[in-house]
Amino acid sequence: MANQQSTGKSITIENLESAFAGESMAHIKYRYFAKLAREAGAEDVAKAFEATAEQEVMHAFGHLDLLYPKTQMTPAKALAIAIEGETYEYTEMYPKFRHLAVEEGNHAAVAEYDEQIAESKEHAANFKRTLEIAAKRFGALAKVEERHANHYRDVLQALNAALNPA
Ligand SMILES: [Fe+2]
Ligand SMILES: [Fe+2]
Repeated sequence: MANQQSTGKSITIENLESAFAGESMAHIKYRYFAKLAREAGAEDVAKAFEATAEQEVMHAFGHLDLLYPKTQMTPAKALAIAIEGETYEYTEMYPKFRHLAVEEGNHAAVAEYDEQIAESKEHAANFKRTLEIAAKRFGALAKVEERHANHYRDVLQALNAALNPA
């Protein structure tokens, strides 16, 4: 029997998510370190970071293959997941972080969160537009995809409510 966590997810799924986060962070961090190394004139160090950063992408993809198996994914599902993630960022995560940064008087962080809120909002809106346009194509597959389509419609309705609060 699978180990259940308080979130209802199996421990292995939670570990895959943590490992995916770690490898993704390593990728971005090494690219950032490469940029700093290059600016400092250490081209060999920059190249070493960039080469390793590329391998971290493959490590992260390995975890994603298990978290989002190809056989269970569709372009519409990927868009719905992306919309949910971006919406969470600008409606919950960044507003909460911003509030705490204001309390701490960290003005640089407040300004940075404001930019991220605007970016995440734009990303969510772009993905939503892409999904709406593509949904017309997916409509042709309505019978096969009806169950999925209902889910995407629910996600879109929730998103519309978040984008246009009454
Ligand atoms: Fe790695
Ligand atoms: Fe984003």
